[in-house]
Parts: sequence; structure tokens; C-alpha cells
Amino acid sequence: MTYKDTSHSNNSSVSIASSSNLKNSFSYKATRSMASALDATQMLMAEGYINGFEIPDSVFKLMMHASMPLLFKHAPGLLAPYEWVLEESDRLADSARELMQVQYDLPQAMLNPMLGDWPIIYPKYSMGLWENGATDLQASQIAMLDRVIEQLEIVDGDHILDFGCGWGCVANYIMSKFTNVRFTGLNLSHEQCEYMRHKMQDSHSYLSGGRFTLLEGDLNEVEFTEKFDKILSIGVFCHIGNLTDVLQKLSSLLKSGGKVFVHLITARIPNPMSSGFTHKYIFPHGRYWHYDAIPNCNRDLKTVDRWYVNGMNYHKTFAAWLQRFDDNQASVKLLDYGMDYAKFRRIWRFYLLLMGTAFATCDGEYNGNGQYLLTHR
Ligand SMILES: C[S@@+](CC[C@H](N)C(=O)[O-])C[C@H]1O[C@@H](n2cnc3c(N)ncnc32)[C@H](O)[C@@H]1O
Repeated sequence: MTYKDTSHSNNSSVSIASSSNLKNSFSYKATRSMASALDATQMLMAEGYINGFEIPDSVFKLMMHASMPLLFKHAPGLLAPYEWVLEESDRLADSARELMQVQYDLPQAMLNPMLGDWPIIYPKYSMGLWENGATDLQASQIAMLDRVIEQLEIVDGDHILDFGCGWGCVANYIMSKFTNVRFTGLNLSHEQCEYMRHKMQDSHSYLSGGRFTLLEGDLNEVEFTEKFDKILSIGVFCHIGNLTDVLQKLSSLLKSGGKVFVHLITARIPNPMSSGFTHKYIFPHGRYWHYDAIPNCNRDLKTVDRWYVNGMNYHKTFAAWLQRFDDNQASVKLLDYGMDYAKFRRIWRFYLLLMGTAFATCDGEYNGNGQYLLTHR
């Protein structure tokens, strides 16, 4: 279940590695050593799978369901394989260009059918909301976007910044509902920007007609000349290395009285988490912030509301993506991934199975999505 939660922790740190005393303690060092050992074991299994030892999905899921509850409940520190996961980095987002190469600029003829591409719902690479009865991927994404409209209290005439706008799905859907809403979308992925540029020339798309402005650029460097009524960022904060600075940046881009909505992958454990496999093959420097991290890192913004969205919603979304990925093998195997296709397929199957199963751990109560509504202090 999704629930609204207005209790905020007073802990002002995102990390468990914040003090040198703590870092020198025996228990900290022991946890770091065990995390490294676990990471090495997981990488061995992942690379075995990638190199051809492809176990049945049922065995994969069984192993995940046996181990993940223990880690989430009793040893969450082991879910942070590297020290950088526990600390805010110097830049807003690390390895941005590498991330585009490894992930977002992959052949769109593979990504788009996997994510789904419909007349109003363009490829959307974030959680669909299933818990209210959606029975397919498209309906789950519509349910998710209807909720965003409600949570961010979007009104006609708003000028909205979509910080990490993907293929323009969120803008297209929301502009289909409001005739005077305007959007500015920021994205570093050249391939996704090409998709949006094409839609901006297509009279059937709400991205055409002058209400959508596209900025192809890196969130680390981009400067805006105007401020916005609303800002939303969906599925992007797993690429953010410094929450304090990014929230400060969003605050500086918000008009007085404006609102920010952040939707991110989260875990209800004391520390951020990551995985050696996803860092190497899927999301370089990707990390999943713990549920209190946003309220803890606010300086200029305050968290007005927040909601934990049960992980079963993302579990079902990943299951739908995996099904669609498998169903499209005949066409996607012909594309150029810069490596042997069989290996690429196993990397992606491992990713979709790993993430999908992790979200189902303990019925979705630990690993899910966090949604936050923020305003100026
Ligand atoms: C998981 S996708 C989510 C996209 C979209 N918000 C959605 O829900 O479909 C993350 C998006 O953030 C963009 N992104 C990641 N790092 C970025 C950076 N450093 N600068 C700009 N965009 C970035 C990616 O290209 C991608 O479009």
C-alpha cells in the first residue's frame, strides 16, 4: 500500500560514514569488509550468469527471496558495497556521460518497445502504479501520472520543469490534460532528445505546438534563465550523488510559492544502497537513497508531505518490462550493442530479474519508491 507519512527524522546526516570516530570503529570496519565480501560473491554469480551460466528464473528468484529479507532486516549496511554509496559526492551526478553510453543512449529500438510506446504514454522509465487495480503497463503508468498531478497540485497555466525528462512522457500526458500548462524538459540523453524533437514536429503530439521546451544537457552544468511554478523529477535521483546540493539547485529554480515533487527508488533502511553489478553494467554510480535522506538533506526546501509506495508496484513494472524484453528478442537481437548480443541479453535479463525481485522482498515493505512534496522554507 502507498501511505502518506508526515513524520520526519531529525538526523541531519545522509550517511552512516559521517564521523571519523565511527569510521575507525571495529563494527564499521567489520561491516565494510563483509560488504566487500558479499559484493565479490554477487559479482561472481552475476558474471557467471552473464558469461553463459544462465540459471532458470525460478532458481534466481528463490535465491533472492532467501537472502534479501535477511539483508534488509538484519544487515542493511551490507547493501552498500562501496564507501562512496554512504557519502554525498562532490558533483550533483557522477559518471553522467558514461551512464548515457551504458544505459540511456542504447538502441532505442530495444528500450522503447520494452518500456511501451503508445499515442499518449511515451516510453516511461519509472514505476507504474498497480495497487489501484491497473491490469497492464500502460494503465499503471497513467495511474502513476494521475497521482503526480494530484500530489503536485498541478493547475492550468503552470510552467513546469521536468528534471530528467526521459522521452517526454510525463510532459505529454500532463499537457494532454491541461491546455495551458507549459513544460521545460531537461535530459542528457541524445537519443531520447531525438525522440522528443521528432514528437515536437508531429502535430498529433502535445510536445508540438510550442508548449514544450527541450534542453539537452547535463544537470551538473545546466543554467536556467527563468524560475518555475512547479518542478518534478521522476526516477532520476538514483543518479544523484549529492542530495544537499541538488535540492539547493531545485530550490533556486522555484518561484516563490512553488512546489517540487521528487519520485525516487528508496529503501526503508538506515543507509543508502547500491549493487556492484548495476554500478558496473547498468547504472554507473547508481545509488538508492534511504527513505529519510530527502528530509535530512533539505536546507532551503522543506518536505511538506512524503509517501512510501510499496515495492510491489515496481516489482510488477519490472516484470512487465522483462516480459516485453523477452517478447521482442527476434527484432532486438539484430541491433548493435557494441558486444555479443547473447551477452547483452543476459546482462539485461540479470538486471531486470535482480531489480524486479528485490522490490518484491518482504512484500515490498523495504524496497520501494519514495515520493516527496517540497516547498521553500
Ligand atoms: C530512469 S530515467 C526517468 C525518465 C523519466 N523521468 C521517466 O519517468 O520516464 C532517468 C532520466 O534522467 C536522465 N539523466 C540521468 N542523468 C542525467 C544528467 N546528468 N543530466 C541530465 N539528465 C540525466 C536520463 O537520461 C533519463 O532520461
